[in-house]
Amino acid sequence: MKTNCKESSTGRQITKWYKAKGRNNLPWRKNITPYRVWISEIMLQQTQAKTVVNYFEKFISYYPTFEDFKSASEEDVLSLWKGLGFYRRARNLYRAKEIILKKFNGKLPNSFENLITLPGIGKSTAGAILSIAYKLPYPILDANVKRVLTRLFFKTDSNEKELWDLSSQILDKKNVDDFQQGIMDLGATVCTPKNALCEECPLNKKCISFSKGELPTVNVKKINKKNVYLEFEIYEKNQKIFLVKNNQLGFWDGLWIMPIAKTKQLKTEIIHKLSHRNLHISFANKSKDELKIEGKWFDIAQLSKLPTPKPISDKLSVYVQNFL
Ligand code: ADE
Repeated sequence: MKTNCKESSTGRQITKWYKAKGRNNLPWRKNITPYRVWISEIMLQQTQAKTVVNYFEKFISYYPTFEDFKSASEEDVLSLWKGLGFYRRARNLYRAKEIILKKFNGKLPNSFENLITLPGIGKSTAGAILSIAYKLPYPILDANVKRVLTRLFFKTDSNEKELWDLSSQILDKKNVDDFQQGIMDLGATVCTPKNALCEECPLNKKCISFSKGELPTVNVKKINKKNVYLEFEIYEKNQKIFLVKNNQLGFWDGLWIMPIAKTKQLKTEIIHKLSHRNLHISFANKSKDELKIEGKWFDIAQLSKLPTPKPISDKLSVYVQNFL
C-alpha cells in the first residue's frame, strides 16, 4: 500500500517518543507477563492509569501470578475491586479465570480468536494483550487512541471501521509493545481532550488538525442519567450489622449492601454517581433484630474486608471506627 511506509514512520516516531517520554514507571510496565498485562488492561478499561496504580499493586500483592490467582473466589476478586467501580469487570475477571483453567490449560490465550471468547475481553483489550504481552501486531482503539487518530488525520466524522483501519496502518510492528503503550500515553498526557500540548507532540509536523489550528474532539455520547432513590436500613446488634448480597438492583451485583426499605421516600443524604444513574441515598436506623429476609449478620471487625460499594463502605466505616 502506498501510504504504508509513511504511516509506519508515524508508528516509529511514537515508539521513539515513548522510550524518551512515556510513563515508564507504571507498575504493569515492569516485569511484564501475560497475567499482569491482562489484570492491568481490565482495570484500565474504564479507569485512569493514576487511579489504577494502587489497585493493581494491591491485586498483585495478593495474587502475584496466575498460579496464585487460580483459587480466588468471586468474592475475593470483588473485595480487591472495592472502590474501583464498574464491578462487572471484577466478576468477568473471575469468570475468565475459571474458563482459562477449564479450557485453556491455565494459560492466558495468545490468539485473538480465543482471547475475545473470554468475558471482559473485547477487540481493543485483546489487541492490547496481544501487543504488550505477546508482541503481536494487533490494533487497539480505546478513547485515547481514538482521539490521537481523529486529530492526526482530521477525521471529524469518521466511523469506527475507519479508525480501526488507521490504528492497524500506523502500527510499529517491530516494537508493537512500546508503540501501543506510547500511543495510549500520547493520548493521556499530550493529546488530551482539553488543552492539548501540541508543542510537545512528536507528531505535530504531520498532524492535520495542528496545521489547521483546529482540534476535533471525539464526540462522547451523552447519557441521560436516571435518578434512583434508595433508602438503606441499618440493623445493628451486639457489634454485628445485617447485610444482604445484592442481586436486585441491576448494578452492584454480588456486593453486600444493607436491606433496602420498601417505602420509597425521595430523601437524599448523599448523591453517588454511576455511569448511567445518579443514586440518591439515605439511611434509616432500625432496631429489629429478627429479620425474615435472606442475609447475614457480620461482625463489625469483618466489614472492612467485605466487598461493598463505596457509599455503603463509607457508612459502615463509622461503625468500624467506633469499634476499633
Ligand atoms: N489504558 C489502557 N491500557 C493502558 C496501558 N497499558 N497503559 C496506560 N494506559 C492504558
